Amino acid sequence: GRLADPTQRTNCGHESGDYLCISVDSWWADVNYYLSAMPFLAAVDSGIMGISSDNITFLPPSKDQTNFCYNVSSCYSSFPETMKKWNKFYQQVKSYSSSFEDLLKYLWAAHMSSLKVAHKKFGNRLKFYSKQEADFERSWALFVDYLAPPLFPTTLIRTAEFQKGLPTRMLVDGDKAPLVSDFTSFQNTVLLGLNFLHKVHKYTGKLSFIVWKTLMKFKVARKLFLEILDLILHCFN
Ligand SMILES: *[C@@H]1O[C@H](CO)[C@@H](O)[C@H](O)[C@H]1NC(C)=O
Ligand SMILES: *[C@@H]1O[C@H](CO)[C@@H](O)[C@H](O)[C@H]1NC(C)=O
Repeated sequence: GRLADPTQRTNCGHESGDYLCISVDSWWADVNYYLSAMPFLAAVDSGIMGISSDNITFLPPSKDQTNFCYNVSSCYSSFPETMKKWNKFYQQVKSYSSSFEDLLKYLWAAHMSSLKVAHKKFGNRLKFYSKQEADFERSWALFVDYLAPPLFPTTLIRTAEFQKGLPTRMLVDGDKAPLVSDFTSFQNTVLLGLNFLHKVHKYTGKLSFIVWKTLMKFKVARKLFLEILDLILHCFN
């Protein structure tokens, strides 16, 4: 239900209505536009798809059109920094000399740039959700921030395993991790972990993030963290 209209003003994305519709009022959908449509256009721009940039324009949503961009040139003029970062990533993809580590570095830089822009724009959407759901969405985005410094390798299998930890429905008042009965133990644990991270981040006034970033500059620390994360994934899956 995360892509559905949270205001309930339309039946967009709701099971009883237009189920495949993605609502422009959905925080999750809006943020992910910046993580899917924008990188797609940057990929087109880089030439790896063999499509001419002038041939692709997305249709705008019914409202809030200025919150999004629809083709290569309008994305560049509205979000130059982010588009440049995605372009840089695809240039690395095209270059045979770049290592997997290099790719991760550029991927995460672009990803963080997209998230930063989207985060600023769509914070106002979170008021449409239950406190539990809004907190979850906020701390999920925060968690992604923490995954960037260790350059989490977003390979398909690892990411798919990892996403099994996502709560499979929107949270409602009264859902309290790790005791949500229709969630798996993995989902309950992820939720508990996210709440914990959010608290630490808030109470240390972001100091925890700075410490984390510094720590992850050390190869040993980064390797250890990724190994622990893999271990956790294996345990649950
Ligand atoms: C772009 O579109 C034009 C016509 O609209 C077409 O002739 C051309 O083949 C397309 N080019 C690419 C690379 O898709
Ligand atoms: C790109 O989109 C803008 C509106 O967002 C439009 O005015 C412009 O014509 C489009 N450019 C191309 C090449 O389709």
